[in-house]
Amino acid sequence: MSEAVVNFIYIVSSVLFAFGLKFLGSPVSARKGNMLSALGMALAITATLVSGHIISFQWILIGMIIGAGLGAWVAFKAAMTQMPEMIALLHGCGALASVFVGWSAYHVHGAVDLTNAITLYLSIVIGGLTFTGSIIAWGKLSGKIPGRPVLFIGQRLLNMALISAVLVLGVLFIMDPARYDLFLVILGLSVFFGIFLVIPIGGADMPVVISVLNSYSGIVACTTGFVIHNTLLIVVGSLVGANGIILSIIMCKAMNRSITNVIFGAFGAVVKKKASGEKKEAKAISIEDAFLVLENAKSVVIIPGYGLAVAQAQHAVRELAEFLEKNGCDVKYAIHPVAGRMPGHMNVLLAEANISYDQLMEMDAINPLMEGVDVAIVIGANDVVNPASRHDKSSPIYGMPIINADKAKTVLVLKRSMATGFAGIENELFYDDNTRLIFGDAKQTVQALVAEFKSGN
Ligand code: TAP
Repeated sequence: MSEAVVNFIYIVSSVLFAFGLKFLGSPVSARKGNMLSALGMALAITATLVSGHIISFQWILIGMIIGAGLGAWVAFKAAMTQMPEMIALLHGCGALASVFVGWSAYHVHGAVDLTNAITLYLSIVIGGLTFTGSIIAWGKLSGKIPGRPVLFIGQRLLNMALISAVLVLGVLFIMDPARYDLFLVILGLSVFFGIFLVIPIGGADMPVVISVLNSYSGIVACTTGFVIHNTLLIVVGSLVGANGIILSIIMCKAMNRSITNVIFGAFGAVVKKKASGEKKEAKAISIEDAFLVLENAKSVVIIPGYGLAVAQAQHAVRELAEFLEKNGCDVKYAIHPVAGRMPGHMNVLLAEANISYDQLMEMDAINPLMEGVDVAIVIGANDVVNPASRHDKSSPIYGMPIINADKAKTVLVLKRSMATGFAGIENELFYDDNTRLIFGDAKQTVQALVAEFKSGN
């Protein structure tokens, strides 16, 4: 196939990727966005295969069968709540692939000019550290390695030494790109650096780290595109790089953190921190009494969190909301931007249960209304409703905007125990005078409330 036709198909793919990303911006159009991006990828792969530059179809076929098989297996096996760790793994693989592409180009052709040497250098450095960084992030999120920040004496010194070595050797390599030994040492140091970059970061910050690594994997695809003169890789890499950084900034803003603080702050240590102030008793409530509270409510705000996803309670929640509405109650859902374990987690869950988007309210929109709300039902949410973030300067989540559940007249909290949430800190909301806890799995509790409505009607 002629170069012009291949390039034209690459442009079509790039446009499909751009629109795919745009459609991913809303839950209503997200599926369409995924399909468009998948179509763009299928076109890009086909155009590359027929471009006439393929040396060995057998090896590509073997790679595709192994890759597609593993990818499909991992994707089918992963529960929705395991998505962030799966994404970390995929970024790691993407970065490793870019390293291999750059490496083989160097192995076969060497670095032909200065630009080639610089982009090659960037590819192996960013690709190497993204690979190991992503594997560590995956390990931390999946519990394969401890989620707490791993700190040791001389860590900063070691990191500084690694960065300096990578920079100095990089200059030497760019000045003399024929030095294969330098190439290998830089790659080795970058791979090491990825480990030491991510181990000091705590589990609670891993989703942001994954988003930053996502951005890196885009940048490395882009630099590799320059190495092998592939325009599609350059465009797609830039898109991924930019959207990863935008997402990281959005997540950091929602947690009131800066990216540098996340990457270098060793925050996120799972510290068992007690709620400040005088210790009160948390008060439990029975299903029957909770039903009476809800039956008399004129307005209810449901605040979903990670536990709702674990319990898969979304369908039961919609049923409960329908009963409340039939009873003349106004029902809204308050969505915190970092509720759950990935951006848009709650939107996706609620959309799965066909809950109308009109009922979903963002944190900034719902908070001014909370004082007039009869009942706030907190379902499997914890950190995102912790009032300590407003006043306790010693709290790790101080400054993080929350949904002001505590301002509602009555707060019903559905969770299994007094266990902490992701940040590992106690929640003073659970001890407030207007809060009642219903212990148990969120789905079973909501189903029990629905049963009360059914028998009460
Ligand atoms: P969490 O603070 O993690 O709390 C989840 C709560 O759900 C836990 O207290 C747990 O208590 C309860 N739970 C678990 N399984 C349950 C079940 N089957 N039934 C009922 N309850 C259950 O959740 P959140 O409020 O959604 O906060 C999210 C956290 O993740 C925040 O710290 C946020 O900063 C962090 N984070 C999120 C993101 C994104 S993008 N979403 C990014 C970075 C960080 P029990 O064990 O007692 O049931």
